[in-house]
Amino acid sequence: MRRHHLAACLSIALSALGADRVAAQDPVKIGLVMPMTGALASAGRETVDGAKLYMAQHGDKVAGRTIVLIVKDDATMPDNSRRLAQELIVNDHVDFLGAGSTPAALSMAPVVTQGKVPTVVMISGTSVVTEKSPYYVRTSFTLGQQSGIMADWAIKNGSRKAVSILSDFAPGAEAGKVFEQHFTAGGGQVLDTLKVPLANPDFSPFLQRAADLKPDTLFVFVPAGQAGPLARQFAERGLNKSGIKLIGPGDIVDDDDLPGTGDTLVGVVTAGFYSAAHPSQMNKDYVAAYQKATGHRANFISVGGYDGMHAIYTALQKTGGKTDADAVLAAMKGLSWESPRGPISIDPRTRDIVQNVYVRKVEKKDGAPWAVEFETFPNVKDPLKEEAAK
Ligand code: PHB
Repeated sequence: MRRHHLAACLSIALSALGADRVAAQDPVKIGLVMPMTGALASAGRETVDGAKLYMAQHGDKVAGRTIVLIVKDDATMPDNSRRLAQELIVNDHVDFLGAGSTPAALSMAPVVTQGKVPTVVMISGTSVVTEKSPYYVRTSFTLGQQSGIMADWAIKNGSRKAVSILSDFAPGAEAGKVFEQHFTAGGGQVLDTLKVPLANPDFSPFLQRAADLKPDTLFVFVPAGQAGPLARQFAERGLNKSGIKLIGPGDIVDDDDLPGTGDTLVGVVTAGFYSAAHPSQMNKDYVAAYQKATGHRANFISVGGYDGMHAIYTALQKTGGKTDADAVLAAMKGLSWESPRGPISIDPRTRDIVQNVYVRKVEKKDGAPWAVEFETFPNVKDPLKEEAAK
C-alpha cells in the first residue's frame, strides 16, 4: 500500500514538472455520436456494446488518465450528428470523437477538422469518408474491400448474370459499383441494379423484379440490422429454392440477425471481414465475453467499436496521455494489432483500415447458422483508394 502511495505521489510530482500538468489530471473524454435509434439503431447499439466491452476488459485508466465515455444518439439523422459533435467539442471539451454511419461521418467532418479532434470512424463503410477530415481514422471497413473479392469469387464459381439489390445510401452505391467493376471485368453482366429505401425496407417487390430477370446470381447489400427481414422475404418468395445464388458483403449475414434466420441463409456465400465463427482464440474469447455482457452474438459492427477503443488506448499510451491531434494522429498511423477479426492495421498513408477479407459459407453448427470462413485474402486495403493512388 505504502509503496503504491509513494509511487503515485512520485508520478504526480513528476507530471507536475511537465507542461501537461493540468491535462494529465483531467479525464480523457471520448464522445461517441452513434445511431442509437432510427434506421441504423442496431449498428449504434453494437458499436457502443463493443466499445464498452473493451473498457470493461482493459480498465478506464490509460497513461495515468481516466477514460470517460459519452454516448450521444443522432437518431440516424446526419444533421443531428454534426450538431452533437459540435456540442461535444464546445461544451464537453471531448478529446476524441467516435463517428458512426457514412452520412453522419460526412456531416461531422468539417466540425471535426475545425475543432482538431482525433476521431475514430467506427461504422462507416464508404471509401471517401476518411478523406473528409485529416483527423479521421477508420476501424470499421469499406464495402469495396469486400465486394470486389465477392465478384471475383462469383465469376470463378460460374456466375455470369447478376442482379444487384442495394440499400439506397452511399455504402450501397459503393458496394454495387465495385461489384460491377469486378464482375464485368471477369466476363459477367449486371442485368439491373435495384435500390431499396434505407428506412423500413420492403424487399419483396425488388426480389420479385430481380427474380423475373432470371439471373444466376443476386448480389445484395443491406446494412446491419436488415439481414433478418431480407432473409425472411427471400424465403417467402421461394428464392432460397430457386437456384439463384445469393451473395454479398458480410452485412447480409450479420451475426446479430443470423441466429434467427433458421435454414434460410444456409449455403449463402459472402465476402466479409468478420464472422463470430472466426476460429482464433482471441475471437472465441471475444464472442463469449460479448455474449455474457450483452446477451447476443458479436457481429461485424461491434468490432469497429471494440477496435476503435483499442486505437484510442494505444495512441494514448504512445503519447504518454497527450491528446493533441497531431500527436494522436501520428501515434495512430501505422498501428497494427490483433483484433477478434484477425490481424489489422491503420494504413499510415490513408488512415484507413487494412484487414483480412474472408470468403465464408453459412453452415449450421449445434443447431444455429454461422458464417464459416473457408478462404482468406490477407491485408486487404480499400481498393478505391489504391486505384486512385496509381
Ligand atoms: C455505413 O454507414 O457506411 C454503413 C452502415 C451499416 C452497414 C454498412 C455501412 O452495415
